Amino acid sequence: MTDVLQRGVIVTDGEEHDHYRELMEPALHPGQLPGYIATMLRQTDRVTATWQNGQIVDMLVEGRKIALLIVMEALFSVDAWGDLPRIWTPILKAIDYISPGSWILWRQMPRPGYKKHLQALDKYLYEIIAARRAQDLQPTPSRQRPDLLQHLINAGLSDERIRDQMLTMLIAGHDTSTALLAWSFALLGQYPKTLAQLVLELDESLGQSAPQTPGGWQPHLLDEIIKEALRLYPPIHIGNRIAATEVTFGAGETIPAGARMFYSIYLTHRDPAIWENPDSRFARNASRMAGKPRRWRMCRLAAGHAPALGRPSARLKRG
Ligand code: HEM
Repeated sequence: MTDVLQRGVIVTDGEEHDHYRELMEPALHPGQLPGYIATMLRQTDRVTATWQNGQIVDMLVEGRKIALLIVMEALFSVDAWGDLPRIWTPILKAIDYISPGSWILWRQMPRPGYKKHLQALDKYLYEIIAARRAQDLQPTPSRQRPDLLQHLINAGLSDERIRDQMLTMLIAGHDTSTALLAWSFALLGQYPKTLAQLVLELDESLGQSAPQTPGGWQPHLLDEIIKEALRLYPPIHIGNRIAATEVTFGAGETIPAGARMFYSIYLTHRDPAIWENPDSRFARNASRMAGKPRRWRMCRLAAGHAPALGRPSARLKRG
């Protein structure tokens, strides 16, 4: 992963990690999120406007377009609509490169077929950085507050370190939401009654108006469906951490300090010791999936010192 993300916040540790995180948090602070709603609605409408009545669309592809456009505009103030053909394959290649595979066990494994795409993505990001540096940085009416890119520039980071954070946010911020969208639609496709209930809930609570801030409407069923999609198909299904101190589990196994531990988000979310009928709750309790998970039952956004930096916006996107 570090081959691609270099010094990105998700692959760094300690002070360096905390520094990048601190720089980026203001742009993703919950207070900023209402400001992103217009972007989310506009970019979603733009993609759905290309669909024809009765047409079957691939929600993995369409969801990715929506998520990419939102991340690019919200975080970097770039309208990437016209850039999609240029960045589509490079982004898919970058995701493929960092996805878990044999390289985890064999770091030097030859990996042909990626270089030119990764370089193309770098070129795109460096162009955005150069264009921003060349701009007059006075706030404009359309950009009263600095976006994430501006925070990174203002902090004095080099182009290379800014590129690392941009690529990290681009991938972490869009691929997860894409998977969540696609799985939610896949589940709804399998449970037409739940879909009908959801449509009713949205019609009743929203009518013809667009969704406002999360407090403005109460999409209970939608919320439960999204949580259930995240439980069954967590977009990031595995994680790892280094033990800061020696850890002893209930059964007596001891993990020494400094050891790297992998944890399975997917298996935790389907552990029969925690979940009743873990594989079929969506079907059985489609309209009554409530029941707050106890702490650590759900870890789809990770937790502790470095949970998803986009946690607030991930929540808002599902609202
Ligand atoms: C459904 C949506 C999302 C899910 C399920 C998700 C899940 C996760 C998980 C499990 C991690 C921990 C990875 C690890 O350390 O092992 C993580 C980290 C991260 N996520 Fe998300 N995420 C989502 C949305 C977002 C969004 C929208 C953004 C950006 C706008 C984002 C940015 C990040 C970043 C930067 C990190 C690294 C944080 C750090 O190391 O301090 N995520 N995410």
